[in-house]
Amino acid sequence: MNTEDLGNSKILNLLFKPAGVIMGSKFRKWLLNPVKTLRGAGIQPGQTVLEVGCGTGFFTMPAAQLIGDQGCLVAMDVLSEYIECVSRKVQAADLKNVRVVKRDALDTGLGAASIDTVLLFGVIPFPSLPLNRLLPEMHRVLKPEGNLAVWLFPVSGWVPKWILQSGLFTYISKQNGVYNYRRF
Ligand SMILES: C[S@@+](CC[C@H](N)C(=O)[O-])C[C@H]1O[C@@H](n2cnc3c(N)ncnc32)[C@H](O)[C@@H]1O
Repeated sequence: MNTEDLGNSKILNLLFKPAGVIMGSKFRKWLLNPVKTLRGAGIQPGQTVLEVGCGTGFFTMPAAQLIGDQGCLVAMDVLSEYIECVSRKVQAADLKNVRVVKRDALDTGLGAASIDTVLLFGVIPFPSLPLNRLLPEMHRVLKPEGNLAVWLFPVSGWVPKWILQSGLFTYISKQNGVYNYRRF
């Protein structure tokens, strides 16, 4: 079974439901200001942004506000439950600048060099997002001056080192806990 099929699994969706509630909780918002964290990624109005593993939309809704009406946010996840949840939120807020996409981020289906900023927020390391496959795909979709923004929780571990070792990205800065990389 591939990752996209797994995302449709009833058992998996049921198991991940409580995680979704925690991810979108007011307590989390109180602990972590999503807007401040997103500002660390340097998102600008009018940008095209890919959010990998949007979950229940903790970062999606504020990111949509930061890019404004002229921007486009692609909020991607494999889990049907989360995709439905974010789609409902986007509809309720009448956001026209968000595309909610159910898809495996290892094969986004997006055009080459079409994205200004990729957000890997709270998604790596994750078993279904191996860096040796994820990073080449992110490198492919990013524009030449595009930014790979990585927020790691609770600890960064070896991830920043692995990103550099891929040889695909160069480190730029760390702001508000967000590691920023340019593609080579
Ligand atoms: C720990 S959650 C983080 C969710 C969200 N970024 C947040 O911080 O609230 C990881 C998310 O990555 C998604 N995910 C895992 N593997 C994926 C893949 N191959 N493609 C797209 N999304 C994936 C999961 O379904 C889950 O929603």
